[in-house]
Amino acid sequence: MVPQSLPPSRMAPLGLLLGLLMASCFTVCLSRQNPNEFALINSEKSSTKESERKETKAEEDLDTEVLEVFHPTQDWQALQPGQAVPAGSHVRLNLQTGAREVKLQYEDKFRNNLKGLKKGKRLDINTNTYTSQDLKSALAKFKEGTEVEGSKEDKARQAEVKRFFRPIEELKKEFDELNVVIETDMQIMVRLINKFNSSSSSLEEKIAALFDLEYYVHQMDNAQDLLSFGGLQVVINGLNSTEPLVKEYAAFVLGAAFSSNPKVQVEAVEGGALQKLLVILATEQPLTAKKKVLFALCSLLRHFPYAQQQFLKLGGLQVLRDLVQEKSTEVLAVRVVTLLYDLVTEKMFAEEEAELTRDTSPEKLHQYRQVHLLPGLREQGWCEITAHLLALPEHDAREKVLQTLGALMATCRDLYHQDPQLRRTLTNLQAEYQALAALELQEGEDEGYFRELLASIHSLLKELR
Ligand SMILES: *[C@@H]1O[C@H](CO)[C@@H](O)[C@H](O)[C@H]1NC(C)=O
Ligand SMILES: *[C@@H]1O[C@H](CO)[C@@H](O)[C@H](O)[C@H]1NC(C)=O
Repeated sequence: MVPQSLPPSRMAPLGLLLGLLMASCFTVCLSRQNPNEFALINSEKSSTKESERKETKAEEDLDTEVLEVFHPTQDWQALQPGQAVPAGSHVRLNLQTGAREVKLQYEDKFRNNLKGLKKGKRLDINTNTYTSQDLKSALAKFKEGTEVEGSKEDKARQAEVKRFFRPIEELKKEFDELNVVIETDMQIMVRLINKFNSSSSSLEEKIAALFDLEYYVHQMDNAQDLLSFGGLQVVINGLNSTEPLVKEYAAFVLGAAFSSNPKVQVEAVEGGALQKLLVILATEQPLTAKKKVLFALCSLLRHFPYAQQQFLKLGGLQVLRDLVQEKSTEVLAVRVVTLLYDLVTEKMFAEEEAELTRDTSPEKLHQYRQVHLLPGLREQGWCEITAHLLALPEHDAREKVLQTLGALMATCRDLYHQDPQLRRTLTNLQAEYQALAALELQEGEDEGYFRELLASIHSLLKELR
């Protein structure tokens, strides 16, 4: 593969697109018309003789090789070099083959565009370019299983996206160059790490490098490649930066890299990531930085009992307790409780699984058995902290807290028995959710959300009787 020759600012989103396509599970719609097709689509400007004359000098240079006009159909067809495209056609770059493909737009639009062409007007060129942020949020939505299109929020988002117009000349040039040179993910990551690691890069450049890097390391292989050339350690060291933003975005990258990636998780613990993450959570830092650090901590601890052990040894439960009791960071409480709930149930499942399968990997179970999580939680006051969080007004926060109370019940039962406030709160919530569940039922929802919350309240009250 030919090394990259595009400036990084341009390559990043394109490389991103390529990566997105290669992660074959991912199809996001960048066009209103084809919700299931992933492609960069724009209404190509007219390249026919008539309008060509009106184009600028630069565009004429691009069009000098135009020999024939391509006739698009309803299906995507590859565009040959030198072929011109009628106005109003859809053009996309097939990122797997590198070919440009063309098809007809909707019939009426096509005709409208032809009309515009006859009047000799310069056509409205609707070229949306997407920033990596836009694609990431699309990816996030995709992961959540929500529709990319449709909601009010999406419309607003799309309107925002539309503001990122770029001239067609620029876009075209980019596409043409992309046909020849495509950078591998590894090359991109090396370039981004070098950018981040270089003392001559500005803070903005470093943040931008981390921001782009985060996308790549979602892929397991990429995260392991990052490890292989020392990039992971560079990012881990970024947690030591005096710049809160560097800490924040380093944690952002690490959170993605750790996620269900044991090899990377092991190296990160060896590389001191756990300690650095806890130091950030325990010291005065902006909330945004702590949020991402907490996220990175979660993905480092999940399914990794060794890291969980180290976390307990390093006083992680105290750090998290202080975090949720601090006025400025108490909004993180639900996330913290969710993490603790996940760790408790993970250990439980490991035990159950070992029992069911008559133990296929004793080592794993052995590891989990050394994570003395529940006694630590009780010791560090998490029984009470969790009970108090039931006062939160949001349903989903309460849902998490109720779940966690259930998971802590065996450990905290005597404390909860002696807590009249907890019973009162639960009784009040019971009344509230009975009303909501009744409404839900009226609307024909017989397996509704509130009914579920009500069921967990019932079972907690039963345990406390
Ligand atoms: C990062 O920079 C340091 C010093 O500037 C250098 O020693 C190290 O090799 C660099 N790491 C990577 C992975 O490029
Ligand atoms: C990073 O910070 C930790 C504590 O905050 C310190 O122990 C460690 O030496 C620092 N590492 C580097 C490479 O500066």
